[in-house]
Amino acid sequence: MARIVHPGLSALLQQHLPLAEAQCQPLPDEPGLLLYLLDPDFPQHTLTAEQMRAVLNYPAYWAFCWASGQVLARFLREQSDWVRGKRVLDFGSGSGVGGIAAARLGAREVVACDIDADALAATAANAELNGVNIELRQDFAACEGSFDLILMADVLYDRENLHWLDRLAARATRVLVADSRIRNFSHPRYSKLGEWDSNTLPDLDESQEFRRVSIYAAGASSPPAAGPGRAML
Ligand SMILES: C[S@@+](CC[C@H](N)C(=O)[O-])C[C@H]1O[C@@H](n2cnc3c(N)ncnc32)[C@H](O)[C@@H]1O
Repeated sequence: MARIVHPGLSALLQQHLPLAEAQCQPLPDEPGLLLYLLDPDFPQHTLTAEQMRAVLNYPAYWAFCWASGQVLARFLREQSDWVRGKRVLDFGSGSGVGGIAAARLGAREVVACDIDADALAATAANAELNGVNIELRQDFAACEGSFDLILMADVLYDRENLHWLDRLAARATRVLVADSRIRNFSHPRYSKLGEWDSNTLPDLDESQEFRRVSIYAAGASSPPAAGPGRAML
């Protein structure tokens, strides 16, 4: 595939990582889904201590597609009734992978919410790249109305986000949480649907435990009846 770089997203990365580029990459398990992600050839091991500090202070999560996001996209593709014809919120959208997968599968409306303005810029660029429409919100309070489905992939890496499990369940008929960070996840509103393997793109060489992703559902754990919608696949 030809090398396609997004200048605006690359400029955001280069504020902290000189020479880093946001490069268009296919998701191996999602035929036709493309994302601007950190160039896989970027030499992460040659970062100076100062650059490493800058990266840690500004974690560009949006420049990676996390294992949980990929597993969730695969789950939705295999069970598209979860999203077809539905109003969907992708909470902690990062690159936008969850919302883009939902839109491609015929969601009626997709909103992406992320506290990081750069992640919303990445979600917008990736939505355009995939020819889908996604509304952007930086603040959950600005996400109006109720949702048929809320997606949350790899947001519980920060334990301070655990309270969102209840808040999101109160705002949607169903919630799907994809996570590989919490061992012995247990919450009275959520039941486990299964486990799948994946890895972050570009590969961060995370340990096997973080490549094993579980999906949990709140609300009914079976897929809802499909509403009318037009899938792009
Ligand atoms: C590890 S990334 C996962 C991105 C994407 N869901 C995926 O699976 O590839 C986590 C994202 O959640 C966002 N995030 C973390 N806490 C959040 C919060 N309280 N509200 C909204 N977004 C949040 C971060 O800014 C980041 O973009």
